[in-house]
Amino acid sequence: MTAPKKLFIKTYGCQMNVYDSERMAEALGGQGYVETKSPDDADMILLNTCHIREKAAEKVYSELGRFKGLKAANPDLKIGVAGCVAQAEGEEIMRRQPLVDLVVGPQSYHRLPALEARARGGEKALDTDFPEDDKFETLKSRPRATRGPTAFLTVQEGCDKFCAFCVVPYTRGAEVSRPAERILSEARDLVERGVREISLLGQNVNAYHGAGADGDWSLARLIWALNGIDGLERIRFTTSHPNDMTDDLISAHGECEKLMPYLHLPVQSGSDRILKRMNRSHTAESYLRLIERIRAARPDILMSGDFIVGFPEETEADFQATLDLIEQVRYGYAYSFKYSTRPGTPAAERAQVDPEAASERLQRLQALITRHQQEIQQEMVGREVSVLYEKPGRLEGQMVGKSEYLHAVHVTDPQARVGDLVRVRIKNSATHSLAGERL
Ligand code: 5AD
Ligand code: SF4
Repeated sequence: MTAPKKLFIKTYGCQMNVYDSERMAEALGGQGYVETKSPDDADMILLNTCHIREKAAEKVYSELGRFKGLKAANPDLKIGVAGCVAQAEGEEIMRRQPLVDLVVGPQSYHRLPALEARARGGEKALDTDFPEDDKFETLKSRPRATRGPTAFLTVQEGCDKFCAFCVVPYTRGAEVSRPAERILSEARDLVERGVREISLLGQNVNAYHGAGADGDWSLARLIWALNGIDGLERIRFTTSHPNDMTDDLISAHGECEKLMPYLHLPVQSGSDRILKRMNRSHTAESYLRLIERIRAARPDILMSGDFIVGFPEETEADFQATLDLIEQVRYGYAYSFKYSTRPGTPAAERAQVDPEAASERLQRLQALITRHQQEIQQEMVGREVSVLYEKPGRLEGQMVGKSEYLHAVHVTDPQARVGDLVRVRIKNSATHSLAGERL
């Protein structure tokens, strides 16, 4: 038997890329690859890239440049670029960086083994198609490796919303939902392999409308079916769009016991004028009313969001409206970004905000979010939560896991094992985590 070849994958960007990287490793497992933690001894290096903001693509090119020495030392080393930069730039990547042997877009991962073989044969292999078949079905799993207690599961991909700033509709393509039964069987398989918490992924996850036995299923319907899987303890989903927050999904938050009280619901801006220019098709008011309804169903739900500051034409008054909205919602967590011009998107052509002003707004926004985040963490002190242990902590006898609300919680619990789901009383709040005592 020949020695296994070594595969190094570096993942950038969103959780969907994390999931895709696992699937790519499994697909190449069938070609005799095992994963390695360092690029130094790899036979194949894959960068699974993100194109959502400018810097991400530039990072990829500078990372590729660093592999020059490795390729000189090992001429058999193959270098591949996957993900959204691969989709957006295509052949341009090979032109700009001749070290690259293989380029594969996010919808073509099931063709990776064939592409790898072509690259091994000395060809430059490229595939950035949008094929019709379900790539996840064709990606054959390695036989039943055990898993950690949490897993991602992609249920929906792509987006038809065309927000004026965003490349996703171009890089990930049109919105496609996987059939419900495939998702359920993948979930059952994950649970048999040790998974207790599943996060359903999709760029527009609440637009899910996958085929079920009796017509299309909504995300809520899918969640209720997952709720019935023995051994699965927790369900999460991300990322949602305000316009697809249907009544059945809102009530699931109140009624479905395995659905966790955490919701990532990006609003991007609190100014109706900017929301309109962003093509978001909701207003600040309709978003706030939606949150009221969600909180009526599940009062303790922790909200998280995404914000863009310095979107073209944003004035100080527009920005102030965003701060006002944040004051009203009080997010437990938020991702905030300075607007980054994406060529080919409508907003790229418009009057850009002075970068200094945008940086200054970003700082003010982040300060407000941090204040709320710290207050909300402080309010957790004294409360009882459930914690799913994900790994040992840095201190002797310590475990780290997540609460229902996705707060990281440290617990001294020497007898415990990874995967235990325990009751904990919160004792302290630190900057990025909580500490508690097992009950
Ligand atoms: N500039 C800055 N942030 C962006 N996002 C998407 N596109 C851009 C862009 N061009 C942010 C949005 C989105 C998150 C995933 O990334 O807030 O919700
Ligand atoms: Fe991008 Fe999300 Fe808007 Fe779709 S809904 S275009 S993924 S920001």
